[in-house]
Amino acid sequence: MTVPENLSRRAMLTKLGIFLNGIIAAILAIPVVGYLFSPVVRARKVGKDAWLLLGPVAQYPTGQTRFATFRNLDVQPWDGKTADSACWVRRIDTQTFQVFAINCAHLGCPVRWFPQSRLFMCPCHGGVYYEDGARASGPPERGLFEYPHKVEDGKLFIKSSALQTPGSPSALVKLSGKLPWA
Ligand code: FES
Repeated sequence: MTVPENLSRRAMLTKLGIFLNGIIAAILAIPVVGYLFSPVVRARKVGKDAWLLLGPVAQYPTGQTRFATFRNLDVQPWDGKTADSACWVRRIDTQTFQVFAINCAHLGCPVRWFPQSRLFMCPCHGGVYYEDGARASGPPERGLFEYPHKVEDGKLFIKSSALQTPGSPSALVKLSGKLPWA
């Protein structure tokens, strides 16, 4: 009688060990699975076409171009100031705005606005843009990229969907008239 009891105890302990190992493995896998699926979950949560607040229109005087920042939606609490992005807001008249990406259309350096000359200038390779964002001179092959924007309840918003870059297919179409691989 002793031998079968020992055997069944051993079998039970083995099963218990496998069960506990399974639980521990599942607990350890949670952060790994969470990390792997976080981009999908975040993309759904953020939404592609959210509007981001740039502030009341009153803070952008007519006829001037002002520096502005906005908070990205896809942020973590510990991101701090790194979650802020910058842009240039040009107010043409009471209702008409242009919102430019701060990045140069050449290789992405941040451009600066010089109100005296009414030009945007890039410090990296000397790219220059007119006040309406059109290319003036230098290596950039096109003007500054613009954010879609809207005014609602006296506030200016821009669309958070991905901003074009020099490599975006639609940007290439604008440059060459057709897709390079078409
Ligand atoms: S990055 Fe602006 S001119 Fe090259």
